[in-house]
Amino acid sequence: MIRMDAVTKRYPDGTVAVDRLSLEIPDRSITVLVGPSGCGKTTTLRMINRMVEPSEGRILLDGEDVRSRPVTALRRSMGYVIQNAGLFQHRTIVDNIATVPRMLGWGKQKARARARELMERVGLDASLARRYPYQLSGGQQQRVGVARALAADPPVLLMDEPFSAVDPVVRKGLQDELLRIQEELAKTIVFVTHDIDEAVKLGTKVAVLRTGGRLAQFAPPAELLSDPADAFVEDFLGADRGIRRLSFFPSAGLELTTGPVVRADATAERMAASDAPYLLVTDAQGRPLGWGRPGDLAAGDIRPGHLLPYGRPFVPGTDSLRAALDCAVLSPTGWAVAVDADGRVKGVVSQQAIGEAIRAAHAADRTDAGVAG
Ligand SMILES: Nc1ncnc2c1ncn2[C@@H]1O[C@H](COP(=O)(O)OP(=O)(O)O)[C@@H](O)[C@H]1O
Ligand SMILES: [Mg+2]
Repeated sequence: MIRMDAVTKRYPDGTVAVDRLSLEIPDRSITVLVGPSGCGKTTTLRMINRMVEPSEGRILLDGEDVRSRPVTALRRSMGYVIQNAGLFQHRTIVDNIATVPRMLGWGKQKARARARELMERVGLDASLARRYPYQLSGGQQQRVGVARALAADPPVLLMDEPFSAVDPVVRKGLQDELLRIQEELAKTIVFVTHDIDEAVKLGTKVAVLRTGGRLAQFAPPAELLSDPADAFVEDFLGADRGIRRLSFFPSAGLELTTGPVVRADATAERMAASDAPYLLVTDAQGRPLGWGRPGDLAAGDIRPGHLLPYGRPFVPGTDSLRAALDCAVLSPTGWAVAVDADGRVKGVVSQQAIGEAIRAAHAADRTDAGVAG
């Protein structure tokens, strides 16, 4: 565990970048430091690996003051990833990634084999190994940066706005990849960002800093969204807190119904017999085609263009209540379509039923918090 104990950083010109910051950073999870530009995030991160020395306070790594460790050994135990990746422009991708193992005295073959293994792990095609950084896209370069930081298998990863310079689509891919890698490797990650959505998505716990390097709140993302500590945190979280918090509630408990689901080759009687205002028509494999009125369907009108779109279905158990609600809101009938991993319809659920599930989830959450507190 990394523990920051009333750490202050005052730069020589008198700027207080970090002000009596105390944080317990748990092992094997992602702790995000988030806050506006200039609030002391980078300074905090660099104090952990001693690129910046604190003016006051202590930083403990597994109970031991980081100052008591030789700085080279300390930095080797901490991979470091920065914005724009900071790659060596004159080295190939494979040699960039092999840098630290080579410094540690590994043979060239072994270091390169390790580098190739890491390229695969971070989702880089092996064909890129002999290229130079300028021949890669920004997103690919960031992946190289992550692979390089992981090369010597350090227990700690320090990441300073690693995805801030790439476009939103690439950024989402990198975030998903980081979560996937973390599931396999379980590193202790300290991740800095100014983007609250990124913080909420990646963090097991999120530390919100305010200008002057003071801690505003340190909590799991769902708790930030439900109970911001003050107006600053609330303002920083931005709009739609309630909706965004639904991402942390599972959709598994939603009660699905198959009553209004019919196959395209069902009999006219079956179609006409329903008292639902709309029926969801599926193909023979059970994949959704669209919604139709029972009367129209019984009359044989299931031409694709005549069905109403079923929107984007959700996968119960995998997707959150937010995803389910989004499906229902987007659906022209107000009913969300639930499918299995293969895209086959498991059932449908109404906006109203989702609303009830949301109220129940909130009530259960409050009860849990009451018991815990
Ligand atoms: N070497 C330095 N000398 C003086 N002031 C600095 C130095 N580095 C950063 N600062 C100041 O410290 C504050 C925090 O900076 P930084 O940690 O880089 O913030 P962030 O990463 O959150 O944007 C800012 O006001 C910044 O201008
Ligand atoms: Mg910074």
